[in-house]
Amino acid sequence: MSAVASDGAVLRGENLSKSFGAVTALKDVSFRLEPGEVLALLGDNGAGKSTLMKILTGFHKPSSGELFMDSQPVSFQSVRHARQCGIEVVYQDLAVVSTLSVYRNMFLRREITRGGFLRVLHDKEMRRIAEDQLKRIGVNVPSVDVDISKLSGGQRQAVAVARAVYSDARVLLLDEPTAAMGVRESAQILDLIRRLKEEGGVSVIIVAHNYAQVFDVCDRVNLLQNGRIAFDCRTKDTSIRELTDLVVNEYREAQQQVRAS
Ligand SMILES: Nc1ncnc2c1ncn2[C@@H]1O[C@H](COP(=O)(O)OP(=O)(O)OP(=O)(O)O)[C@@H](O)[C@H]1O
Ligand SMILES: [Mg+2]
Repeated sequence: MSAVASDGAVLRGENLSKSFGAVTALKDVSFRLEPGEVLALLGDNGAGKSTLMKILTGFHKPSSGELFMDSQPVSFQSVRHARQCGIEVVYQDLAVVSTLSVYRNMFLRREITRGGFLRVLHDKEMRRIAEDQLKRIGVNVPSVDVDISKLSGGQRQAVAVARAVYSDARVLLLDEPTAAMGVRESAQILDLIRRLKEEGGVSVIIVAHNYAQVFDVCDRVNLLQNGRIAFDCRTKDTSIRELTDLVVNEYREAQQQVRAS
């Protein structure tokens, strides 16, 4: 491995751009995620948040720009490759397999097996741990044996979050993890992120629309507007008011341009 001076960041993006045909979803986006940091990625619909997350998970390849993990350049070839590098994600559009039970979803691709030469799935152990983990984070499901398809949207999302949290990932990407959740469930997920932060070790990027919800959980905010980072600030140096004003002003300017044209 080449001797690259460490820049301290777990994950860093440099001038990332992504186009889908004529649509430019991201333009020269640079960001950094520090060890143990919770970074909120904010922005209106279509700002490019999910596209950035999907680049970080190896789902999309950037059209240009570079990614670094621990100061080393990385180019994720697939979602699996990014996961092997320690990046775990909960997508906005739910990453659970609806034909599998709750506990099998929680152990998807890292099933516990037992036996000797011919190893078999250790269902009892997976069931026990899944029940334990869901209880610990306060997620209510009728049983870990039911198919995910039988759960509500919010319950499914909670299972996906629980699964990602207990994967020993170094970087956790949450794309609107509380979008389908009720008030109590959302609070539990945010509590969980708070707890993870206290325990240390994992860095989190959380995409959210509800500024107030994430504001006291995150260390820093990045605001995306039309595919660009418009604002990058430590939480303690900004306010919900300032962020809202930025978004509203941008909207007003866009309206004025439409009227003037
Ligand atoms: N697979 C795709 N093909 C074509 N265009 C896409 C694709 N994915 C995203 N886009 C476009 O890229 C832009 C950014 O989309 P993205 O999903 O990243 O937004 P977002 O910030 O996550 O929005 P939301 O808050 O609604 O989830 C949008 O204009 C969208 O239409
Ligand atoms: Mg999105």
